[in-house]
Amino acid sequence: MKKMLIAPSILSCDYGKMAEELERIEKCGADIVHVDVMDGHFVPNITLGAPVVKCIRKYSSLPFDVHLMISDPIDYIEDFVNAGADSITIHLECNSDIDKTLSLIKEKGCKAAVSVKPKTPANEVFGYLDKVSMVLVMTVEPGFGGQSFMEDMMPKVKAIKEEIDRRGLDVSIQVDGGIGEKTISVAAENGADIFVSGNALFRADDMALQIKKFKALAEKSYCGK
Ligand code: DX5
Ligand code: ZN
Repeated sequence: MKKMLIAPSILSCDYGKMAEELERIEKCGADIVHVDVMDGHFVPNITLGAPVVKCIRKYSSLPFDVHLMISDPIDYIEDFVNAGADSITIHLECNSDIDKTLSLIKEKGCKAAVSVKPKTPANEVFGYLDKVSMVLVMTVEPGFGGQSFMEDMMPKVKAIKEEIDRRGLDVSIQVDGGIGEKTISVAAENGADIFVSGNALFRADDMALQIKKFKALAEKSYCGK
């Protein structure tokens, strides 16, 4: 079976202690570090840019998955690659040319992914499935951590999973927003295999135990092979 992967979102960590937080994430058994980049334009919040990613990269040996919630990602791909990103996700709703941006990401040696906001339908990603390693289905309106999981995104996850399987592709489905003990199972049941989680992990009494529980729940419910 596909390995279920847990990706803590550092949006919910203590920014003043990022080095320690990254070490904690790794020690607790996480698989990927999810870095939320927001420009105050594509979404109504500002987080961090490539210089910060470059500084914190050395504190973790886990893959860095950079989620770009910015209007013109093509202008910043090289910066994030040079800062140490392993995979870069762009939004279909951004202003950059999607094909060109995905090609640039891959040319520079990173894995490329596309993401869709809640209002963007599943079929919009179908044309990119053979060009990406991962599709990110937002399960909240992007911009902030700590929001409630939108269960009505599950038919979208399912439709994308079915299309991936129908075409025999090896593409992961990531879900992001409101993932916790009560919501991870339904996401896995519909086809998600990478789970971003901010608040539920950073606010847990025991992050290691929480990650273990998340993996067990996802494995139990995953619909795929
Ligand atoms: C939202 C971000 C998410 C968010 C997840 O725009 O993309 O990564 O931080 O945080 P929780 O798990 O708290 O919803
Ligand atoms: Zn994110």
